[in-house]
Amino acid sequence: MDSLIKGLNAPRNSLYREVADAACAKVPVGSVLDIGTGRGVLPLMIAEKNARLKAYGIDISRKAVSASRKSAGKSRLSNPPQFDLGEASSLPYEDEFFDLVVSTFSLHHWPDKAAGLNEIHRVLKPGREAWIYDHWKEVSQEARQQLKRDFGLMAAWFALAHLRMVHSAMTLETARSILEDPSLKFQEKRLETRGIFLLLKFRKAGAGVRQVPRKP
Ligand SMILES: C[S@@+](CC[C@H](N)C(=O)[O-])C[C@H]1O[C@@H](n2cnc3c(N)ncnc32)[C@H](O)[C@@H]1O
Repeated sequence: MDSLIKGLNAPRNSLYREVADAACAKVPVGSVLDIGTGRGVLPLMIAEKNARLKAYGIDISRKAVSASRKSAGKSRLSNPPQFDLGEASSLPYEDEFFDLVVSTFSLHHWPDKAAGLNEIHRVLKPGREAWIYDHWKEVSQEARQQLKRDFGLMAAWFALAHLRMVHSAMTLETARSILEDPSLKFQEKRLETRGIFLLLKFRKAGAGVRQVPRKP
């Protein structure tokens, strides 16, 4: 049982750390939204890493929002994340509010993916990005080997078995068909693999993150 839990959790926890690090590097100051946040692990991790970032999490499940609010309350962070109840395709935030939007393992649940992605486009500031991760069904041989090296044989076996079983895991073809939806408003759309996960990366047209000019 321990191996099963480790197999399922270790690669995901490693991804959360990677996303939190990348979010803090990309947006040193500002606001980040996690959609389908579940128990709020990612916003809590981001808030812990960078006190100048305001993290938000939103989820359609009342139970998940209540659990994540409880964790935020217990966290004693100076900048606890804000957790809201809501649906990806109807976000309760102003236009151009966020510097970054992320989501892990939630996209496959969204009944209207294009509506959710266009809602992300609306709440993002010009030039900013959205990183949407989900499970990858046809993990490459290279990623399988890396998984074994990183987490050990047992954990890797369980993680791969889980991917085979969950119908929510996406193929590259499914991910491409989401990206290629002509109704999407993003300027740039890219598909990347991250170990055993898929990353759908979007960029909104606009100025982007302004670089602080160097002193002569
Ligand atoms: C597999 S969980 C992932 C939770 C979290 N992101 C994580 O990585 O642990 C998927 C989450 O997406 C939420 N969700 C599903 N459909 C949603 C929607 N249309 N809008 C917002 N959240 C949604 C679910 O309630 C659930 O908490």
